[in-house]
Amino acid sequence: MSDNFNRQVLLIEKPTGKLSSDHFRIVEGPRPEPGEGEALVRVRYISMDAANRAWMQGATYRSELKTDEVMAGGALAEVVSSKAVGFAPGDLVFADTGWQDYAVLPAKRLMKMPRVDPPTHLLSVYGVAGLTAYFGLMNIGRPQAGETVVVSAAAGSVGSIVGQIAKIKGCRAIGIAGGADKCRWLTEQLGFDAAVDYKQGGLFKALRAEAPKGVDIYFDNVGGDILEACLPQMNLRGRIVCCGAVSQYDGAPPTAGPRGVPGLIVVKRLIMQGFLVNDHFDERDKALADLSAWVNAGKLKIEEDVIDGLENAPAALIGLLRGENRGKRMVKV
Ligand SMILES: NC(=O)c1ccc[n+]([C@@H]2O[C@H](COP(=O)([O-])OP(=O)(O)OC[C@H]3O[C@@H](n4cnc5c(N)ncnc54)[C@H](OP(=O)(O)O)[C@@H]3O)[C@@H](O)[C@H]2O)c1
Repeated sequence: MSDNFNRQVLLIEKPTGKLSSDHFRIVEGPRPEPGEGEALVRVRYISMDAANRAWMQGATYRSELKTDEVMAGGALAEVVSSKAVGFAPGDLVFADTGWQDYAVLPAKRLMKMPRVDPPTHLLSVYGVAGLTAYFGLMNIGRPQAGETVVVSAAAGSVGSIVGQIAKIKGCRAIGIAGGADKCRWLTEQLGFDAAVDYKQGGLFKALRAEAPKGVDIYFDNVGGDILEACLPQMNLRGRIVCCGAVSQYDGAPPTAGPRGVPGLIVVKRLIMQGFLVNDHFDERDKALADLSAWVNAGKLKIEEDVIDGLENAPAALIGLLRGENRGKRMVKV
């Protein structure tokens, strides 16, 4: 890639069914220049998130994605030149740069990041994935030693960290993931007590066998049928952490919600609570201190799945939605 050019991945059509490479186009144009109060950043690693697909469905906690614009996405980037107070060439930042080589952004949309080795940890354990796992489990789930914690999309970026924090807190950790290999990886490499392959069928019974005393915390990354299988297995005063609904992002809208709502919530006095990671940013320093202490002590293993090349970003997201990834997927630009 020439330093004077900027490749951009555009979202040219919003999917009504499954996302495909036809929904994107790569274009090349001149490298932009920063105006007053702005910085030019070189994108280094783009975070691949299930939420990227959810944003195509309409306005959520962020505004609706528009077609023929650069595909939105968070990334780790380096400041190339700056007319923004507080930012200098070489600074590392996190920003919604979108899927492109370069972006020009105002200072208020840049978050300065520390130098960490490896820097990719700033997108995984010290980024949205790690903080989402931490705040969701600690602040909403509130785990107590001896409790049983179940997490879905357990081999993904958020789920793999949730299960390991549950173990650190003295809980029994059960992952739900797609495929025998992923399940083996969760138990043999990440220390989960058990893992259930939802693609095998019979999820309700398989989960019952691994959680004979019931479930105290269900960390829900997927919604749909898996939430429905977990609901009746919740213990009295259990907590359901509603983190996301990846089973409902890549296709037509679901026809009906899970059975058992609200009946089981009433009878079992469950708390079912949604959250967004940034709701808890005032506690970020404490979370990062805990996460880095666990990583440094070898208690928290971080898996990163780095795909090379901006041109491969569409395939990387499509593959993530199909369950190709283990741990945090990102694209090196
Ligand atoms: N609340 C927040 O602030 C916040 C912040 C970040 C992320 N999130 C949410 O956290 C969840 C995880 O996101 P992520 O970006 O970290 O992705 P990820 O977990 O790394 O990857 C997504 C995984 O979802 C699983 N999956 C896909 N379709 C599924 C289906 N129909 N049923 C069950 N599992 C399915 C796949 O694994 P399998 O092989 O196991 O199917 C895939 O690997 C998402 O729901 C996301 O929206 C929430």
